[in-house]
Amino acid sequence: MAKNHSAANRGPFNAVISANKQIGQRFYRLSLGFESAGAKAFAKLKPGQFAQLDLADTPLPPSKDIPEDLVDAARRKILLRRPFSFSDVINKDRKTLVDILYRVVGPATLRMTTLSAGDSVNIIGPLGNGFWVPRGKKQALLVTGGMGAGPLLHLAKVLTADHHGIEAIAFAGAKTEKELPFEGQLDEISQELGFSLAEFARYGVESLVATDDGSAGFAGPVTDCFSEWLGRAGLAGKDMIIYSCGPEQMLAKVAEIAEKRNIDCQLSMERMMACGIGICQSCAVECKVNGSSETVYKMCCEDGPVFDAKEIVFSS
Ligand SMILES: Cc1cc2nc3c(=O)[nH]c(=O)nc-3n(C[C@H](O)[C@H](O)[C@H](O)COP(=O)(O)OP(=O)(O)OC[C@H]3O[C@@H](n4cnc5c(N)ncnc54)[C@H](O)[C@@H]3O)c2cc1C
Ligand code: FES
Repeated sequence: MAKNHSAANRGPFNAVISANKQIGQRFYRLSLGFESAGAKAFAKLKPGQFAQLDLADTPLPPSKDIPEDLVDAARRKILLRRPFSFSDVINKDRKTLVDILYRVVGPATLRMTTLSAGDSVNIIGPLGNGFWVPRGKKQALLVTGGMGAGPLLHLAKVLTADHHGIEAIAFAGAKTEKELPFEGQLDEISQELGFSLAEFARYGVESLVATDDGSAGFAGPVTDCFSEWLGRAGLAGKDMIIYSCGPEQMLAKVAEIAEKRNIDCQLSMERMMACGIGICQSCAVECKVNGSSETVYKMCCEDGPVFDAKEIVFSS
């Protein structure tokens, strides 16, 4: 995988917010637009690539809107940029518009909720490698957990637009129905046809939902739903490719399923990232060295965040 080494192509750029819509209890979709050099750099953004947002000067919401469990965290200063991947990219009239799906978990994401149309945010990116599509695959299986949905929505769009001949199906999991980071309702007929989620359906991609508490779709982990589906599908492993993004425990299970069934698999890994550009070494991912018992540490920001599942050493 070629690394994204060209410093000139990754800014920093200023992006202007066009919308910041709340889509769930703590979920938002931030839409931003780039012009000139920023538009050029982000026009070819690959699904799974990410960017570092500077949110240091973005104000906090009023104290009445800060969830109780984040009151202490809200007081923390934002010293470092924060990494986010993208759920959509649209090129229009020399502008590049991108969407970020985000969940409010701490001081930076709390601040993000106060961004509104016309505000600008400073961004370094695109960073990292992104997902890639090997030749000869007939079916892409997209397995998402929680906020991992963003880059896989972008991938669904790219696969269906650019790689005719590959069918995609998505498996989306969350703890509860309320924690599924999707919007849009589908009519009953679409649901019966297997199009559970409107956001995948608009690319013609079927989807299955799984919730840990059974409040929507399959009751149980999305990996169980995925495994059952694979058992029924009877497709040859070599024709398929799995793409997955979500919590590490889920990724470990997806890697196990892929290995057992001999299916190629790419995982988007998450690490705390200080610099995002390969300097600070804070984002190490332990990887196997081909054909030996040795391991090496690769940088999630520069060597990833997408890795071949066979490489990763998961801590049990
Ligand atoms: C490549 C990449 C892409 C990402 N894409 C998205 C996205 O599309 N949408 C989204 O909502 N979030 C995404 N994240 C996670 C996002 O960067 C964090 O949620 C954000 O930095 C949290 O900042 P905060 O100040 O609000 O909370 P913090 O106080 O920094 O963190 C809150 C809690 O989340 C944990 N946490 C924060 N960042 C990470 C991380 N990178 N890995 C593991 N645990 C973490 C912390 O340990 C802490 O418990 C991505 C992360 C990476 C590395
Ligand atoms: S975040 Fe600094 S090296 Fe990866």
